[in-house]
Amino acid sequence: MNILVVGGAGYIGSHMVKQLLKDGHHVMVMDNLSKGYRDAVLCKTFFEIDMADQAATTKIFSENPIDAVFHFASFIEVGESISNPEKYFKNNTEGTQALLEVMIQFHVKYFIFSSTAAIFGSPNYSPIDERHPKSPINPYGHSKLLVEEMLERFDSAHGLRFVSLRYFNAAGADPEGELGERHNPETHLIPLVLQAASGRRDSISIFGSDYDTLDGTCVRDYIHINDLVEAHMKAITYLRQGHPSAAFNLGNGKGFSVKQIIEAAEEVTGKKIPFIFDERRIGDPSILVADASLANDVLGWTTEYQDVRDIIKHAWNWEKKYPW
Ligand code: UFG
Repeated sequence: MNILVVGGAGYIGSHMVKQLLKDGHHVMVMDNLSKGYRDAVLCKTFFEIDMADQAATTKIFSENPIDAVFHFASFIEVGESISNPEKYFKNNTEGTQALLEVMIQFHVKYFIFSSTAAIFGSPNYSPIDERHPKSPINPYGHSKLLVEEMLERFDSAHGLRFVSLRYFNAAGADPEGELGERHNPETHLIPLVLQAASGRRDSISIFGSDYDTLDGTCVRDYIHINDLVEAHMKAITYLRQGHPSAAFNLGNGKGFSVKQIIEAAEEVTGKKIPFIFDERRIGDPSILVADASLANDVLGWTTEYQDVRDIIKHAWNWEKKYPW
């Protein structure tokens, strides 16, 4: 297939490109490099373009055959989205609409969308399945939920077939060590814990110690980046087989507390990881764990990396390569 990966210079997008190339697809990347890295783009064709720039995207779609678009180009910092919501609605929602309008003009059939567990808000029950009410508690999650809703309308009106994939906590790195997580600033738990292990930072702050969880710290469902990538491969196959548009929750179905992650990281790295307790972070639900049985049943997707230590091991191999 001819596949355009929007946001292919970022963490998840770059790993996606690597797999698509391995599977023999013709891959093009479009990225404005506001967060991504040019050297993380492993395919030959690269367009440094913002998805909101319709003149530029029209040129790309008119000059290249494109069968499917995989979309990863979003801002992802929950805290920033609370203080600067307009940035999130402008890029994540309006930017995506601008891209979709051009796709429809050129009759691109398939769209795979990076959605998030943040569309659900604070869970009413756990694990979270697709029927769980969608009630985001931060603008980040809201900006993505609006896209999911927009996609349903675009499907009805224009026949655009899509799959929305709601990631829980994406983590880990390319097992071959070629790619990894390079957010700036880094806000995610596992890379920060590993920076404390490598000595790049003195300690890790644990946000909140009084949650209603096994040890008082927040629980999350960490999923290996390559398992997420594999779900996208299954999703595009599903659409090409003629199935209707759909949305799936993606996780391992197992929760780990912040303290358990620190302990697992100590085991993997063999280093003592100093931590300090800090205030709760605004917008953090206490527990987020996925029920991914729909993706298991419908897509035939299962996770290869169920041991959180394997996820941490690959992230640690990447951290040890710093500076990248
Ligand atoms: N945490 C700390 N200290 C830190 C960083 C994080 O204690 O220095 C805690 C957080 O409070 C949270 C857990 O570690 O309880 C995981 O935090 P992350 O920032 O790694 O991930 P989030 O769960 O906040 O967010 C991730 C993605 C979002 C997505 C969300 C959906 O980054 O894009 O999952 O579940 F929306």
